[in-house]
Amino acid sequence: MCGIVGYVGENNAKDIIIDGLKKLEYRGYDSSGIALNIGGKLVVRKCKGRISNLEEMIAGENLFATAGIGHTRWATHGAPSDLNAHPHTNGDNTIAVVHNGIIENFVELKEWLSRDYGVEFRSETDTEVIAHLIGIYYNGDLLDAVYKAVDKMRGAYALGVVCAAEPDKIVAVRKDSPLVVGLGNNCNFIASDIPALLKHVRSIYLIENNEVVLLTKNEVKLFNAERKPVHRDVFHVTWDADAAEKEGYDHFMIKEIHEQPKGLYETLHRRIGEDGIIRLDGITMTKEDIERFSKVYIVACGTAYHAGLVGKYIIEKLAKIPVEVDVASEFRYRDPFVDDKTLFIAISQSGETLDTLAALREAKRKGARVLSVVNVVGSSVARESDDMFYTWAGPEIAVASTKAYTTQLMCMYLIALYMGAGKGVLSRAEYDEYLKELGELPELLQKVLDQENKIHDIAKKLYKSQQVFFIGRGLDSSVAYEGSLKLKEISYTNSFAIAAGELKHGTIALIEQDTLVIALATQDFLFEKMLSNIQEVKARGAYVLGLAKENNREIERQSDQVIYIPECRDELTPILSVVPLQILAYYVAKLRGCDIDKPKNLAKSVTVE
Ligand code: M6R
Repeated sequence: MCGIVGYVGENNAKDIIIDGLKKLEYRGYDSSGIALNIGGKLVVRKCKGRISNLEEMIAGENLFATAGIGHTRWATHGAPSDLNAHPHTNGDNTIAVVHNGIIENFVELKEWLSRDYGVEFRSETDTEVIAHLIGIYYNGDLLDAVYKAVDKMRGAYALGVVCAAEPDKIVAVRKDSPLVVGLGNNCNFIASDIPALLKHVRSIYLIENNEVVLLTKNEVKLFNAERKPVHRDVFHVTWDADAAEKEGYDHFMIKEIHEQPKGLYETLHRRIGEDGIIRLDGITMTKEDIERFSKVYIVACGTAYHAGLVGKYIIEKLAKIPVEVDVASEFRYRDPFVDDKTLFIAISQSGETLDTLAALREAKRKGARVLSVVNVVGSSVARESDDMFYTWAGPEIAVASTKAYTTQLMCMYLIALYMGAGKGVLSRAEYDEYLKELGELPELLQKVLDQENKIHDIAKKLYKSQQVFFIGRGLDSSVAYEGSLKLKEISYTNSFAIAAGELKHGTIALIEQDTLVIALATQDFLFEKMLSNIQEVKARGAYVLGLAKENNREIERQSDQVIYIPECRDELTPILSVVPLQILAYYVAKLRGCDIDKPKNLAKSVTVE
């Protein structure tokens, strides 16, 4: 995830900024850069790769300055590269900008700037547009130019801006992307995250949406969107550096669970144009291509495979095309039937999973069109695919995948809608309705997160269970697999998921007094069937934790405990129903004293067979 650090004071800005950027390395990044104001000129140095590459690049240069901005980039628009790294500057290098977030209307702005101002762009990023915008509005007052530029921009952003002609100033802005100001003695700072500043300051202003900040070494002024001064109480940070990286959460996993509404929002909103039509920027498939596909394969591993199970259901339903889902380690060795009428979808958070990569190469060799759903921009899976669809979950640090899964699901819905509309099998009204309801999911998911304390209490009752069964029907069975994997991988509980209708064909033999059964019953049309399955296990003494939509209260009569998710259409429940299971797994693991972010025997990225 991108990181911002800025400093204005009396000391060596370069060292302070680079040191601050290093404190944000844990968030993941693919390039870094710095802009310093030296003698009224902006000196920008930036490069792909680690911060150590940047340090090597500038070693030996005399870059003393008392103000500057720096950035670590996690690629979204444009691959990781020297040119795409931040800071970005305007045409005559008098304005430099670092940016976290996305500019949704950057394509329109780019066209307008090229056409009306003859701007030539040097990178593929949305951020460069901001530097040029500020440049054309600059008339001796950086604050004014930033206000005018921001007025033109749509999207989410935290910005740090410096100007050659105003050497002792930084202007910063926040909209839907975190930004803090650090208050020092004869110096002030900006940062996207508190850990970058803790070495220097503990007094912080937490900047709110649509606020603009003007910093000099002796003063910090906050303004609202109407350019009126704003008062802010100082926030005193008491966390240590380790806790600050996790933004006060005990583990990355729970932090990432809470980041899901944002991940969903970004994955969806970056793709919907003014006309309400989905734009899949990395996908070049035409209507004819879509019509030619006779079949889709979705291939992945672990959690990503579970996202594929949901994808099958949704793509078949909305795009009316047969879909097979396979685990990559099986697909690659079984000579599957793939030809040039096959669309192969690889799903991978890391984009480096060896089995997924090998399966992708095998499908390509057989002539399939390859589309990848990947979180890490520029990763191997993304590079080797014909079409790319990024999840924009931001870096996932905990080994247990959470926000990658829900954003992968969002991508599955968008691909299904894209294909359904492309093939003409989905009416505009249905398409619009789905998009509207997808847009409501971040808010509904927040309602699930608000039940964290209740789920924690349930975990306190259940964490000693030696064996857990997850059951569900239809889409619920796909989510059951993911819930079970979460629980086993971080809490080392022996858990098992099965389609509820299959219970009586063998597995029910294992149900005895107090066996914990987690029953997902979120599908309205299968609700009665699930109640029967719950009765079956109850009759054998099981302790049942039910999961249902909030209007289906009847489940309370059959279950020992119930967690509710908000009402939504059956097809969209997986994004909501998985979250209580993630939280439950987290608290069970915590109560069992497990190493949650780094479970034993597991790696974040499985690059070996
Ligand atoms: O990076 P990938 O999505 O390709 O990783 C695939 C699996 O290794 C991964 O989803 C794994 O199952 C998760 N860490 C489980 O939480």
